[in-house]
Amino acid sequence: MHENMLRKFTSCIVAVTLFVLCGFTTNVRAGACIVPQPLKGQEMHVLRVDEDALPSDIVLPRPRLDGRIVGGYKVNITDAPHQISLQTSGGHICGGSIIANRWVLTAAHCTAGKTAEKLKVRIGSSQESTGGQLLRVKEIVQHEKFNYSNVDYDFSLLHLDKEIQYSDNKKAIKLPEEEDQFMDGDICYVTGWGNTQNASESRQWLRQAEVPLFNHELCSEKYKQFGGVTERMVCAGYMEGGKDACQGDSGGPLVSKDGVLVGVVSWGYGCAKPEYPGVYSRVQYARDWVRKHSGV
Ligand code: ARG
Repeated sequence: MHENMLRKFTSCIVAVTLFVLCGFTTNVRAGACIVPQPLKGQEMHVLRVDEDALPSDIVLPRPRLDGRIVGGYKVNITDAPHQISLQTSGGHICGGSIIANRWVLTAAHCTAGKTAEKLKVRIGSSQESTGGQLLRVKEIVQHEKFNYSNVDYDFSLLHLDKEIQYSDNKKAIKLPEEEDQFMDGDICYVTGWGNTQNASESRQWLRQAEVPLFNHELCSEKYKQFGGVTERMVCAGYMEGGKDACQGDSGGPLVSKDGVLVGVVSWGYGCAKPEYPGVYSRVQYARDWVRKHSGV
């Protein structure tokens, strides 16, 4: 009797987690949330296949249209030269940031269950499927405390097998130091090739949205039915919604006006919904962990 209830409770938690991480539109394989399912149906019964959908995309019904690197605009890789596209044989799965010649920081939920040989990193291109360079990953260093059920400690380091030669379109982003102070309302920029959920906005080109840092307590309150947000998380977005990261942006950078990597795209309830800001892994929290594992 008790065991049965426990089992039901556990599967409920797992279902809620996958929903929050993956949204309606993602495809769940082997317990991992695999990226953006560009879905353009306005209504539950209207299903259209997006022209830039990946071959592996599974099109599922959506109850409503609620997101895109929502409220964003096209940018060039030279505007975000730290941005990378993390790929498997099926193409783009996540974003990430160059933090040193041989190191990329991304989200742990992007690397969970993956092996280094299966991953590639595209650098120096505004398009996720072409251009720039494709580099191999030598080693994945996933945060040892990453917790799938509440998405805590959502950090992973990728050790590249070749050194990146910096140029206008590939460059490391500055990491925050312990003493840096980030304030509620500070404008940050999130970039990625994630879901635009808008047929007229291609996912092929890198996009950016401006989002202010959101009060931590208020964010935790808004997300209390999802267990709240931890000290390893930072929220950004507008109370009224409209601008946000979305599926496929995970692992990517949230950068302050001073060019400091404040967050890593992690999760959220839908995308750009009012009252539900985007949740990012707080890079400042992982500063020592990054140093310990990469020397950066
Ligand atoms: N977990 C998503 C991914 O794997 C990112 C979701 C971000 N959601 C948001 N509303 N900011 O790509």
